Amino acid sequence: MELYEAMSTLRAVRRLRPDPIPEDVLQRVLTAATWAPSGGNHQSWRIITVSDAELKQGLEDLYRPHWEGYIPGYEQHMQNMPSAERESSRKALESGTYLANHMHEAPVICVFCFNFDHITVTDTALDRQSVVGGGSIYPAVQNLLLAARSEGLGCVLTTLLCIEEPKVKALLDIPADWHTAAYVPLGYPVLGGHGPISRKPIDKMVYRNTFGNH
Ligand SMILES: Cc1cc2nc3c(=O)[nH]c(=O)nc-3n(C[C@H](O)[C@H](O)[C@H](O)COP(=O)(O)O)c2cc1C
Repeated sequence: MELYEAMSTLRAVRRLRPDPIPEDVLQRVLTAATWAPSGGNHQSWRIITVSDAELKQGLEDLYRPHWEGYIPGYEQHMQNMPSAERESSRKALESGTYLANHMHEAPVICVFCFNFDHITVTDTALDRQSVVGGGSIYPAVQNLLLAARSEGLGCVLTTLLCIEEPKVKALLDIPADWHTAAYVPLGYPVLGGHGPISRKPIDKMVYRNTFGNH
């Protein structure tokens, strides 16, 4: 698939069929993740491909309450949206609820883990939250998403489960010095899958030379 087409049609696909993913397809998608850059090329992330039925159910059971907790605030936020945006947000909310109740059906849930010991972080001395460490993890997630999209697999980057890290670590035998950064359910889409995305135009997002300057 052409790269720009993949990027511009990579939307959140949360309704996934339980059909297995052929091993060669999965290997290609996982390999794409390993091609991502990371600070110092340390690649201090790992993916656990969770396909075991009980473990997937365990992840879903931990995820669902957090999704349910997220809904009221989001519905409140939707009330101030223009009607077209509200409609697409309503659909996203429905698909999110579907995922929260069917996550275990995804043939594979990719759990991205990372280790702080080898992650290059250059912004911890600032008086704000540190974000640079994520730059050594999330490019791998995005590579995986793009490869999945190219293979016709539905996928969505999720992070709600990160709050349950201690329980996930116990469930998946993750060592003490490793942490969780993202969860990506992967599978063939129930509905149309990926497609056109809605994003702000470039003139709202990009400035010339100084901030705010067009
Ligand atoms: C950092 C991050 C965390 C996200 N966490 C969740 C999540 O926990 N659950 C979920 O259903 N979607 C999650 N999403 C998906 C976003 O809701 C989705 O990418 C966004 O609404 C755009 O949707 P679209 O690509 O379909 O337009 C997350 C996305 C990002 C980038």
